Amino acid sequence: MYDDDENEISCKVVLVGNSGVGKTCIINQYITNVFNEEQLTTTGATYSTKKLFIESKNKTISFEIWDTAGQEKYRSLTKMFYKDSSIVIMVYDITNEDSFNDIKSYWLDEVINNSNENVIMAIVGNKSDLIENEKVKEEDVKNFANEKGIHFAVISAKMKNGIDDLFKDIGNKYYDSLKITDDSEELNKSKKLSKKGLKNNKILIKKKCCK
Ligand code: GTP
Repeated sequence: MYDDDENEISCKVVLVGNSGVGKTCIINQYITNVFNEEQLTTTGATYSTKKLFIESKNKTISFEIWDTAGQEKYRSLTKMFYKDSSIVIMVYDITNEDSFNDIKSYWLDEVINNSNENVIMAIVGNKSDLIENEKVKEEDVKNFANEKGIHFAVISAKMKNGIDDLFKDIGNKYYDSLKITDDSEELNKSKKLSKKGLKNNKILIKKKCCK
């Protein structure tokens, strides 16, 4: 959706996935170029922003990036974040089979059932620096994502591999999707929802605690 500045588009992105897959580290690397070996678990949700200029389109995307808590006790809270999101990134850990199985059996349904129908979805395998301990075959996830028409990437928050490209790719996808729905009533509706959602979400906790 276009902001007051016609060249700037705001875009709410939500990261979900099991606890420990690296959601916070991905966001920290993208925003501040920092990686924590001892990253504390997220409770509630945290919010950060980053602008991305897309040269070919002469537009800036202003990402509102929400980091959600992966622990099961916070899952009902996470539901609140899908509603106004433009992009949902489902993260798994390439060394942890359960984290991908849970995308197939839980997270994907959650996103589909709670997001708006135009949401752009991505499945992202994190910790590619630990390839020697890989438990989830990249090819299998790629095929799964292709079948469902979902964007797929493998990245490393630790090495900062693939993170900039991920946001560039999903940002482009989002921009292209807007061109289809531009001027539509749907777009205006989602503009209002996003602003309202952001206001509501701001009241949520921004705390960290030990794992
Ligand atoms: P919750 O907040 O509990 O939902 O977890 P999370 O998904 O946000 O995971 P977090 O970012 O807290 O990272 C969990 C652990 O994985 C931390 O010890 C990180 O240092 C580690 N980690 C995150 N990304 C990577 C990575 O790319 N490579 C490696 N080797 N470790 C990583």
